[in-house]
Amino acid sequence: MRVGILTGGGDVPGLNAVIRAVVKRGEGEHGHSIVGFKNGWKGLADGDVVQMGRQQIRNVLPLGGTLLGTARFHPNWEDGSMDAVLSTLEAEHVEALICVGGDGTLHAASQVAEAGVKIVAVPKTIDNDVWGTERSIGFETAVMIATEAIDRIHTTAESHNRVMLVEVMGRTAGWIAATAGIAGGAEIVLAPERPFDIDKVCKILKHRHRAHASFSIIVVAEGAVPAPGTSMEYEVKKGRFGEIIAGSITDRLQVEISERTGFDTRVTVLGHIQRGGSPVPADRILGSRFGIAAVDAISRGETNVMTALKGDEIVLVPLEEIAGKVKHVPDELLDAAAALA
Ligand code: F6P
Repeated sequence: MRVGILTGGGDVPGLNAVIRAVVKRGEGEHGHSIVGFKNGWKGLADGDVVQMGRQQIRNVLPLGGTLLGTARFHPNWEDGSMDAVLSTLEAEHVEALICVGGDGTLHAASQVAEAGVKIVAVPKTIDNDVWGTERSIGFETAVMIATEAIDRIHTTAESHNRVMLVEVMGRTAGWIAATAGIAGGAEIVLAPERPFDIDKVCKILKHRHRAHASFSIIVVAEGAVPAPGTSMEYEVKKGRFGEIIAGSITDRLQVEISERTGFDTRVTVLGHIQRGGSPVPADRILGSRFGIAAVDAISRGETNVMTALKGDEIVLVPLEEIAGKVKHVPDELLDAAAALA
């Protein structure tokens, strides 16, 4: 069978482990021919295809990014793109497609599946907010990077007696903020799931600095917002595609906190550092397991599903169950982050 693979949306560390597993398992165990499409759905629409084999996947496990390239492109965004995707698949005799992506790519995958293509999706996003799986590829590496950054910010915060705001990624869910906040010992975590009250934030800081500390660390998810009716009015700043502009909420918080408390306050926006570099073992392992499960599912004829981690096991979840859902941080985890201030 000829099987295609693409990686779409924002890159994450661990994508190459998926590609490697699909090629090794697909060729070695099932005798498939694996072709890669460059730059996500864009390459599929443009017919940008590359034959994959052992040569292409040599020594890729420690490499960040994706050897296939990626793009923020949805086949339904441009007239004719969906037809172009379907014609490329036909011209290349691709019988099933593995799509590795986050919410945007998975949304596109379900639409392409509706058009009759056999799809197996693999969840990746450092945001860890894909519904139906306990983990998405890239998350563990991002948490490691964010935790290390918070550790480093601790020493400079303490030396200067400052309030340090550390912004992490997470537009709709605060998984990195909550977990790295706990691991790095942040005093306050602000996540999209719990809109904040700036008065309470400042009260905690003042109390802490009066009682026993000279510095504080606040981890802010980029999608954090003030609660309606509280004393900070804020309009979320968005870019051309409706994406949140990195740094905007945290820059505003710096002004609010320094004016309201008088504390010297600084901002660090971690940004794409969280997505760069070598994947931690957990992401290499999960990527490899997802890749094997995806190509095995195709070989059994089980398609229009997503590989998912459930407890210790890899399972398959129907694509139609995932569409339009976001996996938010549970209350218990947010409470834990707040309890250790
Ligand atoms: O892919 C998810 C993500 O990393 C978000 O956390 C972040 O808001 C966004 O991508 C950034 O996108 P881009 O790389 O297109 O700026």
